[in-house]
Amino acid sequence: MKIGVVLGTRPEIIKMAPVIDEIQNRGHELLLIHTGQHYDKEMSEDFFIDLELPKPNYNIHVGSGSHGKQTGLMMKGIEEVLIKEKPDIVLVQGDTNAVLAGALVAQKLHIPVGHVEAGLRSFDVSMPEEINRMAADDCSYFYFVPTEESAINLVLEGYSPKDIFITGNSVVDTCYRNLKIAEKTSTIIDDLGLENLDNIITLTMHRAENVDDKERLHNIIGALHELKDFNIVFPIHPRTKKTLERFGLYDDLVNEKHIHITKPIGYLDFLVLISKSIIILTDSGGLQEEAITLNVPALTLRYNTERPETVEAGGNILVGADKNYILETASKILNDNDFYNKMKNAKNPYGNGNAASKMLDVIENAYENNNLKIEAPETIYSGFKVEMKQVSEDITVKEFEDKYNSLVRVIYKNDNMVFPQENINIKDSIILFNKYSN
Ligand code: UD1
Ligand code: UDP
Repeated sequence: MKIGVVLGTRPEIIKMAPVIDEIQNRGHELLLIHTGQHYDKEMSEDFFIDLELPKPNYNIHVGSGSHGKQTGLMMKGIEEVLIKEKPDIVLVQGDTNAVLAGALVAQKLHIPVGHVEAGLRSFDVSMPEEINRMAADDCSYFYFVPTEESAINLVLEGYSPKDIFITGNSVVDTCYRNLKIAEKTSTIIDDLGLENLDNIITLTMHRAENVDDKERLHNIIGALHELKDFNIVFPIHPRTKKTLERFGLYDDLVNEKHIHITKPIGYLDFLVLISKSIIILTDSGGLQEEAITLNVPALTLRYNTERPETVEAGGNILVGADKNYILETASKILNDNDFYNKMKNAKNPYGNGNAASKMLDVIENAYENNNLKIEAPETIYSGFKVEMKQVSEDITVKEFEDKYNSLVRVIYKNDNMVFPQENINIKDSIILFNKYSN
């Protein structure tokens, strides 16, 4: 089987790494397409080295630009490659412009798309990422969702549960596979020359709504100046460096003794840094997941999150760009042991580190059963009516579907929405289902 992987930015490289490993370990042909959205060595190439990834077969070199221009150029480049290479399936990851471009182009060429990390929703369409995730989900064939919560998001939008697979998040695979190696090889903590190792905050931010907004950026930077009880290590995203310089905020920050600004750090060093931190202060998506995976409290510089599981589990607090709230919460973590331990011990909702293997099982199974095809239907179904029903029969989802020629969409049981796995017993539940008629 020939499997295409489209990626373009730092987090996609990191989260696709275990998927790429799995594709190669199982002997499939890999077609690796880099869009070139991230191009600085420390935003792209360094991760290929750290994660021992093969060189991309194609790099489209789109570089930076407006969303329309960047996405359009990616689509043109990806289309040319896919027409030439004809992969059996294309995998995209997350919510960047690459996922939108890759999914849209592949689906229109009738190549099935697997969306890794599908179903996340912030319900905030002011974020470019929310638009990308929703549009990519519209163009996907398989949905590899990290949690049941993201699966429910999709079924409530009308996606078929049969196409949704709860795999966990592949970032856990990457973390687990690399932390031990990183601990042996990384010298980052010595290199930083920090005097106190008990009060490290790792800070990252790059989200447009923070770094392009002068007032929000001022508030966050104001908090950083006052967090003098901590050592703040700030590997700075190129976008953020540019806006800090433009707003005249950069030099004061560099001159603070407790703030250590560095270039973006390679993955192995970064893993060690975050695992030794007392707090991760971030607006990154991946960092919210890695924080709970590595038992480090996260303070998220956002007003909403498409990772609500981390907040519900107790490992992540949304502090927005609210200076006082940032200061109060950071101080509580440093000074209140019970509060710190509760956050630290929050249960990781993102699985055990075998997400990539589960994805490949699904893809191989579909390939073997000749199911990787987008074709016009041959069975006539004149109706696909949606119905709701209180079930009193002692029956599983699968038995119900076979008996009533139907598709169970979602189950409401004991005051909870439940994803309709085939073996779940639906007695005494309310279900939403489609009834086929021909
Ligand atoms: C992109 C993704 C975002 C993701 C982030 C990961 C979209 C819409 N955004 O945001 O979802 O969380 O990557 O880091 O896809 N730049 C460089 N060198 C580089 C890359 C970027 O200098 O290698 C600078 C350029 O000035 C560029 C700016 O950073 O204009 C923003 O880059 P861009 O890729 O457009 O968006 P990100 O903020 O990186
Ligand atoms: N990361 C890294 N070095 C850094 C900053 C981040 O290796 O200096 C990693 C981090 O561990 C995570 C990913 O980059 O896996 C997150 O990328 P980013 O925050 O750019 O994107 P997002 O996850 O918000 O889309």
